[in-house]
Amino acid sequence: MPELKHSLARLYLDETKFNRETIYSRQRPHILPAEPFKRYPKAEKVLLPRKWDGEENNFWSILQQRRSLRKYSPKSWSITDLALLLWACQGVTAQAGQFYLRTAPSAGALYPIETYVAVNRIRDTEPGILHFDIKGFQLERLTSKNPAQAVSDAALGQDFLSRAQIVFIWSAVLRRNMAKYGHRGLRYIFLDAGHICQNLCLAAQALGGGACPVAAFYDDEMNNLLGIDGKEETVIYMAAAGLKP
Ligand SMILES: Cc1cc2nc3c(=O)[nH]c(=O)nc-3n(C[C@H](O)[C@H](O)[C@H](O)COP(=O)(O)O)c2cc1C
Repeated sequence: MPELKHSLARLYLDETKFNRETIYSRQRPHILPAEPFKRYPKAEKVLLPRKWDGEENNFWSILQQRRSLRKYSPKSWSITDLALLLWACQGVTAQAGQFYLRTAPSAGALYPIETYVAVNRIRDTEPGILHFDIKGFQLERLTSKNPAQAVSDAALGQDFLSRAQIVFIWSAVLRRNMAKYGHRGLRYIFLDAGHICQNLCLAAQALGGGACPVAAFYDDEMNNLLGIDGKEETVIYMAAAGLKP
């Protein structure tokens, strides 16, 4: 296993960074598109009953109604709502030996993802950037300045992020996963983050709001906002969230 800085993961992450200087000039590989659906026309068909219309706010209706939400109510979630959203992302649900098992699965129970929140409007909570201490189930304040505009600027200027009540920012601590899985570990890191984000989307829907995943951001700018080095730990995913207008 090469050291982290010579790993395929580091190379891939560095080569695919967005930054202001190169974002529009960098050549993308020319890859022809594919058909959006695959079918086997000659295969025997097994018809499926459509049974997911359920009671309001049950699991099936939450799945049916989830949409990426980019417009938000001026009302705010409370700190209790924020706690539920964080618990949905990565809350500890059981302990098995040394492992603190969570709401979202993780390859090898290694949990390489860290959650930060950029708080714009949460009732009775000062804005700022905070880190989620998963084991202590508490937030650790890193800054007290309203981060909304800086987060939106770093997310390629997507301005709905500045109006979201809260933006979740997920980083990967690469070594946590790659010490076991080597190069292949990068796959698992992204898959883990996807599970966490989907939990957030469904929880936000259940709380009368929604979330919008965001993967378009200037990597170094987001890392700088969190004060992380972008090498051992780097931002890989985000989601804006808020109540529905
Ligand atoms: C990996 C990923 C990255 C995304 N990045 C962005 C983004 O940067 N900005 C944005 O507005 N939406 C983003 N989206 C949301 C998609 O546009 C959205 O999921 C898609 O259009 C389907 O719509 P739905 O989520 O409402 O079903 C992203 C979604 C995923 C899964």
